[in-house]
Amino acid sequence: RKDLLGIKDLSKEEILEVLDTAKEMKKILNGEKYSQILKGKTVVTIFFEPSTRTRLSFEMAAKYLGAHYGNIEVATSSVAKGESLIDTIRTVEMMKADVIITRHNMSGAPHLMAKYTNASIINAGDGINEHPTQALLDMMTIREKKESFEGLKVAIIGDIMHSRVARSNIWGLKKMGAEVRVAGPSTLMPPAIEKLGVKAYYNVEEAIEGADVVMGLRIQLERQKSGLFPSIDEYREYFGINKERMKLAKPDAILMHPGPINRNVELTSEAANDKYSVIEEQVTNGVAVRMALLKILCERRN
Ligand code: CP
Repeated sequence: RKDLLGIKDLSKEEILEVLDTAKEMKKILNGEKYSQILKGKTVVTIFFEPSTRTRLSFEMAAKYLGAHYGNIEVATSSVAKGESLIDTIRTVEMMKADVIITRHNMSGAPHLMAKYTNASIINAGDGINEHPTQALLDMMTIREKKESFEGLKVAIIGDIMHSRVARSNIWGLKKMGAEVRVAGPSTLMPPAIEKLGVKAYYNVEEAIEGADVVMGLRIQLERQKSGLFPSIDEYREYFGINKERMKLAKPDAILMHPGPINRNVELTSEAANDKYSVIEEQVTNGVAVRMALLKILCERRN
C-alpha cells in the first residue's frame, strides 16, 4: 500500500516491519544521526491542527535521512482563501512531493486526500478517528521495555471518547496480543467500546490494578463543545494518575502519555517525572518510528 492511514488497516506483520525498521533507525539517531537513505525524496507536512511533537519529528526524520522537506503553514496558506483540500493536495503533488503528512480535525480527511494523489499520505491524526504514528511509537516504547506484547495488560485512561490515540492503540495492541483495558468517566466513554475487544472500567483503581502499562490520555477540551463533564477538579480527583494509584500496577509497570500533558490533571507532575515514566523516551521513539515510515513508504515508491 502507498499510504499509512490507520492501524486498523495494518496486519501484525506490517506493524512488526515498522517496529523492526524503527529499531534500526534509532541506531542512526543515536549514532551519526544523518544518513542519505532518502536522498532525492521530498517530504511535505500540512497540519490543519496544532502540533509540536508529530510535525517536528517528521521534519527531523526527513532531514536526518537526507530528504528535502517543506511545510505548509495552513493559517497563511491559500487554504485561508478557501482553496479545497483536494486542490491543495494536487498542488503539493505537482511540486513533486513523494510523501505528504497531514493532520486534520475531520475524521477521514487523509483518506480523501489519498484518493486524489499519487504521493504517499501519512495520517498524523484525523479528528477522533486514528493517530497511527503515535500508536506505532507507543508500541515501539512498550516493546523496548517488555519482553512481548502477548498477554500484556495495558490500561488506557482518560478521554477515550475523543481520543484518536486510544483508538489506534486499541487496534494495534490487540493485534499484537495485548489485553487492553480502557477507563474513564462514563461521559467520556464511547458507547459499545467493548465491541473493539477491550474491557471498559469506570473506576481508575480497578483499571490500573495489575497493569504492565498505564497510559494516560490528554483531556481534549477542544473537542468538548458543551464543556467538560466531570469538571477538571472532579476528573483529577477520580481519574487522575498519581503515585498512589501507580502503586496498584505491577512493580515493573511503565507510565506513558502521548503529550502534550495537562499537568496535575491527567497525571501529577510527580508521577510524570518518576522512574517508571517513559514519556520522554516516547518522544525520541517518535522520531525513529517516523524515520522508519518514511523509509518504508519511499522504498515502496522506487
Ligand atoms: N502526541 C502528539 O500528537 O503530540 P502533538 O500534538 O504535539 O503532535
